[in-house]
Amino acid sequence: MSQKYNDTPQNKNRFTITAALPYTNGPIHIGHLAGVYVPADIYARYLRLKGKDVAFICGSDEHGVAIPMKAKKEGVTPQEIIDKYHGIIKKSFQDFGISFDNYSRTSAEIHHKTASDFFKKLYEDGNFIEEVTEQLYDDEAQQFLADRFVTGTCPRCSFEGAYGDQCENCGSSLNATDLIDPKSAITGSIPALKQTKHWFLPLDQYDTFLREWIIKGHKNDWKPNVYGQVKSWIDEGLKPRAVTRDLDWGIPVPVEGADGKVLYVWFDAPIGYISSTKEWAEKEGKDWEAYWKDSRLIHFIGKDNIVFHCIIFPSMLQAHGDFILPENVPANEFLNLEGQKLSTSKNWAVWLHEYLEEFPEKQDVLRYTLTANAPETKDNDFTWKDFQARNNNELVAIFGNFINRVVVLSHKYYDGIIPEPEELSTIDKQTLQELKKYPEILSTSIEKYRFREASQELMNLARLGNKYLADEEPWKVIKEDEARVKTIMYVALQIASGLAVLSEPFLPFTSEKLKGMLAFNTLSEAPQWNDVVEKEVLLPAGHRIEKASLLFSKIEDAEIQKQLEKLEATKKANEAETKTEKAMTEPQKDTITFDDFTKLDIRVGTILEAEKMPKADKLIVLKVDTGIDVRTIVSGIAKSFNAEDIIGKQVSVLVNLAPRKLRGVESEGMILMTENKDGKLVFINPDEDGTQNGVTIN
Ligand code: MF3
Ligand code: ZN
Repeated sequence: MSQKYNDTPQNKNRFTITAALPYTNGPIHIGHLAGVYVPADIYARYLRLKGKDVAFICGSDEHGVAIPMKAKKEGVTPQEIIDKYHGIIKKSFQDFGISFDNYSRTSAEIHHKTASDFFKKLYEDGNFIEEVTEQLYDDEAQQFLADRFVTGTCPRCSFEGAYGDQCENCGSSLNATDLIDPKSAITGSIPALKQTKHWFLPLDQYDTFLREWIIKGHKNDWKPNVYGQVKSWIDEGLKPRAVTRDLDWGIPVPVEGADGKVLYVWFDAPIGYISSTKEWAEKEGKDWEAYWKDSRLIHFIGKDNIVFHCIIFPSMLQAHGDFILPENVPANEFLNLEGQKLSTSKNWAVWLHEYLEEFPEKQDVLRYTLTANAPETKDNDFTWKDFQARNNNELVAIFGNFINRVVVLSHKYYDGIIPEPEELSTIDKQTLQELKKYPEILSTSIEKYRFREASQELMNLARLGNKYLADEEPWKVIKEDEARVKTIMYVALQIASGLAVLSEPFLPFTSEKLKGMLAFNTLSEAPQWNDVVEKEVLLPAGHRIEKASLLFSKIEDAEIQKQLEKLEATKKANEAETKTEKAMTEPQKDTITFDDFTKLDIRVGTILEAEKMPKADKLIVLKVDTGIDVRTIVSGIAKSFNAEDIIGKQVSVLVNLAPRKLRGVESEGMILMTENKDGKLVFINPDEDGTQNGVTIN
């Protein structure tokens, strides 16, 4: 393989920014936002503010194998699944201000064509190895098994739940036939080997290229977590990777003799970045090729995507030959939720569409929290307490408070018209000097992909404003030196304007509101990023601003409590499910004779009285009419029922159980119960319409 490669375009001002195409088999949650989309959006917005030529590209990844699996499970077509989630996901991105220039989908015709052509070119140039090999086959499902269709034990780390393409425990990328003890994920059966033809990308032949390009070329500018992972993969030795599959969901392999075969989803999906760029360029009358041949390419992804974006896709691009390679792949680690791994299947997540129902118009609060606590160098935890604290102690108390004081006082003293300053004091000059440092401070962090740091620096600018007002105390000075207050307010208003401009990448909705309040639209030229440094003033004296409106509002404990309770309920439901799963696999007890069975005397009874046993948190003492008598039964049900609620209930009673004493009270029988799906005890009722007490049940 030729060692020439191109990751340094001529044009330093053009950027192609991609964000991982999400799979359309579920909605998106805070983990997606924190790991990929918020940082990518901050970066794209920042570059636009710097006047760069930006294509911010994304779309739905609709050929993932989980999609037909989910469709099968729900008895719908894969098309219905992708249409549903493409819509939900696209809306969530819009709602959270993720400013894609284009959001496409891999089911689009332009993508099918682009991916097919890409494959054909590599095929015709002899870049693939065509080989008949033995692959895992599920006889029952009549299907070859690869990727998520097969699970087994990881050959590297012995983890038992590894998939046919990847072990989520150790991160290894695998071939299905590498798995030890493979099992079909469709039928649970043990697959056999069957011959089939596929096309392989011989990654081993790209070893030299990858070493030159990444190991030598990007040791210092790629994030250590990304660089380290890639290096260890290369050092372990790369193997040919099949880029086709025996499946009926995906893009048909565009060559003779490939019936029933489709492109591997990880072959077609990253090409989606190119097709989405084409779709956008067509709409906007731009030249898509510029963004793939002479542009700085940056891929924003989560850590589970590193191998695909740093090894496989670059090898594909290199083989193709026409395109640039990524300049950087700033992958993030994972976000946890309240100490537990986010999980779509376990519903352990904060879904974006649900968040907005609970916290309408608080998109920026979530964006800010996720940025301030982003999993940039290690896995991180999202907690609702931290979310509340970031909102109340930073956004409300610092940012919001500063802006509110400035705008309110400007109206109080000057009717909202920016006053002409007197001579600036040393403090004033220093403060304005400080303000001018911020674009550079933020740029440095952002350009190193350190968005956490950047978000804290932004807050420091608000702190600067707050401190200035607290020190200068215009509300006191107004009584003795009106002229001085003009200068103070003038300086404070410059800081407020700086915040309006510099907050945009992080807090786009807030920035918009703030620009409205400061009436940027009536300025002859609204200030831009560089103006914060270059312009003498951002808001000139004589300019009239609008009335104050609240940028942020306090989040109360009760709101946080509600979210925590919701998670608690999810936890309970998951535990109950695990219990049910366990119960289902619990072996049956030893066989009893019919005679044994008839020895049980189970009858219908009615609870006449119920009283919680003092100092026993589980026990309730019942008086039960069994039809034959009224007797005392002590029952361990206090966690599931209030005593007063069960009076009058009909229940099933085992009446000939030998009496025994519980906490000193003799119990003469047992109430039959089961557990519902929330793990709560429920009675086994005879019949809701009422049965006579004493009627036998068995
Ligand atoms: N759908 C993949 C995931 O969610 C990401 C695909 S990124 C692309 O993990 F490059 F393939 F588009
Ligand atoms: Zn493993």
